[in-house]
Amino acid sequence: MDTKYYDFKNKIEDEKITEIIKAFKDGEIIAFPTETVYGLGADINNDKAIRNIFKAKNRPVDNPLIAHIGNIDNLEKLVDSVPKKAKMLMDKFWPGPLTIVLKKKDSISSVATGGLNTIGIRMPNHIITEIILSKDLTIVAPSANISGSPSPTSFSHVKNDLDRLIYGIINGGECLEGIESTILEITDDKPVVLRPGTITIEELREVIGEVDLDSSLLGKSVDKPKAPGMKYRHYAPKGEVYIIQERENIEALNKKIAEEGMDKKNTAIVSFEENLNHYSTIRGVKNISLGSRNDLKEGISYLYSILRDCDSLNIENIFIEKTEENNLGFAYMNRVKKAANNNFLRGVR
Ligand code: TXA
Ligand code: MG
Repeated sequence: MDTKYYDFKNKIEDEKITEIIKAFKDGEIIAFPTETVYGLGADINNDKAIRNIFKAKNRPVDNPLIAHIGNIDNLEKLVDSVPKKAKMLMDKFWPGPLTIVLKKKDSISSVATGGLNTIGIRMPNHIITEIILSKDLTIVAPSANISGSPSPTSFSHVKNDLDRLIYGIINGGECLEGIESTILEITDDKPVVLRPGTITIEELREVIGEVDLDSSLLGKSVDKPKAPGMKYRHYAPKGEVYIIQERENIEALNKKIAEEGMDKKNTAIVSFEENLNHYSTIRGVKNISLGSRNDLKEGISYLYSILRDCDSLNIENIFIEKTEENNLGFAYMNRVKKAANNNFLRGVR
């Protein structure tokens, strides 16, 4: 299939928008930008199209998709009732990178929800989704990558993974947030975070008080995390990833490089800008900056791009600096630990 490209980077064309909406309604699957990462969408009312998403991504069928709405009135088509805490969070954070999992209406496709009786819902904060999603169009979408690779934060990432496998890709430039939305389930009294994101747990607690963390986020290995997607190894580049301390001991790094016989030209050290100098005595490796350690939001927005760049450069070993696991650092470390499969250099956490 020849994939259609819609270039809305500089200008959004009305006729093309009409064409895209029609294609969704006709059951096509199209990748679109959001503020977090690119999504691969289908009309929520079209099971056949939804199945095609799973096929194109090679995604396990038990891994549910998020419903993207553009209009708060659409909620009533998805759920029978909205708990008070959910309402408070919607008021505060929507449109924005927060997905709320609620009990779904019986009529909602269980193909989209991977057989669950709940549905994750979010209202993206992006001009293009705002225009496409209307009262009569709700799009279900996972991230627009092949399952297992880092989520796409640019048009070229999507093209790299899904070209010729999907009907179209909308180019909306780079995603500002750069990692997937925070996911919070509100089905019982106690809301539970299933996936951290750039809306932090601290921020959620400020609005609704107590919030639990799913046990899969507490470093325990669980067979059945509440978000089925969290059990798969994710966000992984092809190279081997090692988590290092901030300003890691140079001797320890050199020792590892020698012990494993790593080829320095295929080795990258990903660190905060302030620490680039610290690693400069290790000659021949590639140094990549995460931006300032005082602006982790920026570092997070580069993370997946950096991991994908490492793949294109055939980097075989990636050393990446850790942060504290609070505020934005919790989301950062969640993705880094997945990319590294929990591989800490020297085992030091
Ligand atoms: O920012 C985002 O959330 C992006 C953009 C495209 O919106 N989407 C995204 O989708 O990251 P995906 O499918 O790659 O990740 C969704 C995660 C998966 O781990 C899935 O298991 C979980 O959300 N999830 C979705 N619906 C759920 C539900 N009803 N209950 C529990 N977990 C759910
Ligand atoms: Mg994904």
